[in-house]
Amino acid sequence: MKKIAVFASGSGSNFQAIINEIERGELSAHIALLVCDRSEAKAIERAKTHGIDTFVFNPKAYASKEEFEQEIIDELQKRDVEFIVLAGYMRLVGTTLLSAYEGKIVNIHPSLLPSFPGKDAIGQALLAGVKVTGVTIHYVDQGMDTGQIIAQEAVTIEENETRETLTTKIQQVEHRLYYKTLIELLSI
Ligand code: GAR
Repeated sequence: MKKIAVFASGSGSNFQAIINEIERGELSAHIALLVCDRSEAKAIERAKTHGIDTFVFNPKAYASKEEFEQEIIDELQKRDVEFIVLAGYMRLVGTTLLSAYEGKIVNIHPSLLPSFPGKDAIGQALLAGVKVTGVTIHYVDQGMDTGQIIAQEAVTIEENETRETLTTKIQQVEHRLYYKTLIELLSI
């Protein structure tokens, strides 16, 4: 069974969905660590509820990204983490972490990349007036949501769609697509 780490910055609903599928026996993986860059993130509570170790850090307390990423790597290696799952980690991964885990970091993004990369992809799609958006799972590289695409699923935007209804629809897809894709990726 692969040891994985999940990185999150906020609510952690994707993190929770992965925990649920592991606990249901659908996904074979052990979450050895939650890495979080915001001390008030709800994801931390979720980790504690499920007995998952956390490494919470304040990026501003470090002189550079290289410095905090080296500390993250130490925490990952201590626990023999083999694979990293970004789930709402709102920070660009730097070369320090990328070279330590080359080809072993994946991310989920709430749009059909390459459309609407970066922050607030759902708001960007609504503003652009597109009729179809969706969810992308991709490998992480140095760019902003530019890595090789692994899986995508479309979500239709209806006439009367609001940010709330679209967010719910996208999250439903995310919570299913992420663990299904991880089943494949972690079996390699
Ligand atoms: C998710 O929709 C995820 O796709 C998005 O943040 C949300 C986190 O929600 N990620 C990005 O926008 C990355 N560019 P969660 O904390 O409830 O899982």
